[in-house]
Amino acid sequence: MSGATEALRCFVRNRAGINLGADKDYLVVSRLKPQLSSWDVTSLDGLAERLRAQPKGALADQVIAALTINETLWFRDSKPFDLLRTVILPELVTRKATDRSFAIWSAACSTGQEVYSIAMTLREEEAQLRGLRATILGSDICEPVLARARTGIYTQFEVQRGLPVQRLVRYFEDLGGEWRVRPELRSGIEFRALNLLDLPLNIGPFDIVFCRNVLIYFELDVKRNVLAALAARTKPGGYLILGGAETTLGLTTAFSPVPGTAGIYRRTT
Ligand SMILES: C[S@@+](CC[C@H](N)C(=O)[O-])C[C@H]1O[C@@H](n2cnc3c(N)ncnc32)[C@H](O)[C@@H]1O
Repeated sequence: MSGATEALRCFVRNRAGINLGADKDYLVVSRLKPQLSSWDVTSLDGLAERLRAQPKGALADQVIAALTINETLWFRDSKPFDLLRTVILPELVTRKATDRSFAIWSAACSTGQEVYSIAMTLREEEAQLRGLRATILGSDICEPVLARARTGIYTQFEVQRGLPVQRLVRYFEDLGGEWRVRPELRSGIEFRALNLLDLPLNIGPFDIVFCRNVLIYFELDVKRNVLAALAARTKPGGYLILGGAETTLGLTTAFSPVPGTAGIYRRTT
């Protein structure tokens, strides 16, 4: 297609790591064209030109946000949440004799379902946590999805994706057509805009990092850099949980797979 779509794909790859091939030109066009007038430009060429002149700032953030894929659901793939309760938390509890808190990071959390699924799991494992308190940071590059995550409000369609009815009743208020996560579940949770390619030095270190279904969009060198950045923010012995199609193997030695699990790694060095 045009040089403009190529320039825009290049822009989003350089800034966010998201690798959209030429076959994704339709996505660039269909997502950006409807917003052109709100950005005061008349064409994709004009938009590419503006971003060349101003690669950072509000417009750049909005263009990146428009090109992210935010697909998510509750307890996605279920296994990671089972392993959280059966493998990770029991081990963490034995190590946390003096330090009575631990920190979890959901590093590409989209609209928040992953974060609240973690919070529900912790709530249901209170007995084995024996008073250990958790904080959860949910972050994403896309501010609009974070704004939704902060409200904790989900449509009927969204709550039907992976959330058993018992949990819906226990953890959500019925707003009549929509559902809001109860305040008790939201306490201890913070949502913050962060780009995995440009993380501040002062976040973490975390005991458990969920970074699921985002590395799949990155090229090899970007995956390596992001995994190094995650390792630098994970405590020694801390856990990294990746998506089903993602691995650290061949990309870093800072994490090694936890035997008998799939998609769970531990910080080694
Ligand atoms: C497919 S969703 C995955 C959501 C959730 N982790 C899950 O597994 O259901 C991928 C998310 O990664 C975010 N993302 C893409 N590039 C990013 C980057 N460079 N830094 C932070 N988040 C990014 C997108 O905005 C999107 O919300």
